[in-house]
Amino acid sequence: MTRENAGLEARLAEQESFEPPESFVEQANVADEGIYDEFEENWPACWEQAADLLDWDEPYDTVLEDDDAPFYEWFTGGRLNASANCLDRHVENGAKNRAAIKWEGELGETRTYTYGDLLYEVEAFAAALRDLGVEEDDVVTLYMPMIPELPIAMLACARIGAPHSVVFAGFSADALATRMNAADSEYLVTCDGYYRRGDALDHLSKANEGLGDVEHEVEDVVVVDRLGDAMDHDLAGNQHDYGDLVDAHRGETVDPVSRDAEDMLFLMYTSGTTGQPKGVKHTTGGYLAYTAWTSHAVLDVKPEDTYWCAADIGWITGHSYIVYGPLALGTTTLMYEGTPDYPEKDRMWELVEKNDVDIFYTAPTAIRAFMKWGTEYPDRHDLSSLRLLGTVGEPINPRAWKWYYEHIGGGECPIVDTWWQTETGGMMVTTLPGINTMKPGSAGPPLPGIDARVVDAQGETVEAGNAGYLTVQKPWPGMLRTLYNNDERFLNEYWREYSDEEADEWVYFPEDGAKIDEDGFITVLGRVDDVINVSGHRLGTMEIESAIVGTEGVAEAAVVGGDHEIKGEAVYAYVIPEDGYEGGDDLEAAIVEGVEDAIGPIARPEEVVFTPELPKTRSGKIMRRLLEDIASDNELGDTSTLRNPEIVDEIAAEVQGN
Ligand code: PRX
Repeated sequence: MTRENAGLEARLAEQESFEPPESFVEQANVADEGIYDEFEENWPACWEQAADLLDWDEPYDTVLEDDDAPFYEWFTGGRLNASANCLDRHVENGAKNRAAIKWEGELGETRTYTYGDLLYEVEAFAAALRDLGVEEDDVVTLYMPMIPELPIAMLACARIGAPHSVVFAGFSADALATRMNAADSEYLVTCDGYYRRGDALDHLSKANEGLGDVEHEVEDVVVVDRLGDAMDHDLAGNQHDYGDLVDAHRGETVDPVSRDAEDMLFLMYTSGTTGQPKGVKHTTGGYLAYTAWTSHAVLDVKPEDTYWCAADIGWITGHSYIVYGPLALGTTTLMYEGTPDYPEKDRMWELVEKNDVDIFYTAPTAIRAFMKWGTEYPDRHDLSSLRLLGTVGEPINPRAWKWYYEHIGGGECPIVDTWWQTETGGMMVTTLPGINTMKPGSAGPPLPGIDARVVDAQGETVEAGNAGYLTVQKPWPGMLRTLYNNDERFLNEYWREYSDEEADEWVYFPEDGAKIDEDGFITVLGRVDDVINVSGHRLGTMEIESAIVGTEGVAEAAVVGGDHEIKGEAVYAYVIPEDGYEGGDDLEAAIVEGVEDAIGPIARPEEVVFTPELPKTRSGKIMRRLLEDIASDNELGDTSTLRNPEIVDEIAAEVQGN
């Protein structure tokens, strides 16, 4: 490090707030701070601004219908189609030849789809799906990695009014089967495989294994040939080659089905505190309006931009901010198939330079990895095309924020630290980049129109400077409408904690802890339920525990999250072996394999600690807090209420000894 750099680092380390650069403010989509008051005074009609970003087949009658709260409805009576909003209208408005998706494959190949091309592909696949018998409201499962056929399939489903349920390609066969069973989904679109760090991975065998556990009949499976000659599979009787299907329907016109604003656009399964994932239901009008609005206001997306969200479409971030929000606004969205360190650790910056990326949105876990690899990688590239940076998925530590600001943004790009969830559909708490001061580590104020408050255990708003629980006290258009086929769980999970049901006052509880400061800035502290956040991905500890307990030789297990330098949190498993079994390498390997089979490699334990007992209260409840402290190397809390306090030191010695 040069002396000059060292001086700058030291200055940045001290600096607690940053103003958006004038050059950014001058061109920002939203730069008038009056928007906060305007939305508050004019709520809920303010949300017409979001709806106005879309084209409606039929205008809506009511902005918000709250008769059956918390089963809220938005833009009722309105009709629209999401694929028409993401494609047709741009083609009709002169953007036919603008790039819609630029795809960068891992091996260096590229594909560009203009809005015209994308519409053509979507229509061909929509016609193919229809021909297979997919009808409006049939749930189509998409189990695919980051290849263009994934957004094409999503938009084709949206076009014919068939909700999609995307299952992250890194999830296991079991996870696929659980989700197809829960959604009663009779159609699957998948692929033969994909590339990871130069190797061809077999995906279809995993999909087939999952299909073997689907309890109902699966009508059709469509298989994209991603690997060509690199891998051969025999297709089963109900399996069709994607390319053949599309070729048979090229050039066909498929009119977009006019959907009610409240009709389901998609389902997305996310982890909860039980072993059964939650099927979050998003609708056509509210979700699309909200993702378009937040892409406009927060990500500052403009049609002429090249915008890159480096998430995977298999998670909500990719749905909202690779596909629906950016395409609704008619911009160019970049999609990357591979990993950030292949073929070299400068891959992301090479792609930013090559594509003149204007806006870059990623997760803190990636930023921490970039930081660890060092500045030599971004320094190899001209990153001056960047105008705005974003983060999502987990809290960002101020050091990583400042590194991102300086070494990627060159000190000239605002950073938006966006707090939201699968359930919220889009961003909820973040600065508006053309308006607010930024405070590294703190997401910012709630967005205009979003009534997020930090409350204590009784639901009273905490004073500035204090910590408590994050709540959202008014509905918003992008909110989940229910958990699929499970209204009761929807009520229990999100609404029972702080609502006054008698008074019909409904408070949404996201299960995050948070702090609020004197400027109303919210710092999100993390989950307060048994959900952990590994590399920005949400995993239920119960799901992992049940996979571990299902392994032969395991009597009992407790899984908690422990601090991790790069991943934010990592999975720690404390395991009691069954009588007659030894806790050792063999059992550990079996446990890891069990978790990978049940969920996927992402849930793989960082450490498996064998112990003769787990710390339990006198009533027999496992004291997870203590296990978390051990995993994170924190000072241990009170052990006096334990039935077996001595075990805590034993476990701590075991972990620290490693
Ligand atoms: O704990 C919060 C954390 O991620 C959770 C939501 O996870 P998921 O539904 O998978 O969606 C992730 C992408 C939107 C939240 O409950 N989280 C998300 N964004 C932030 C965050 N924690 C702190 N700061 C954030 N910006």
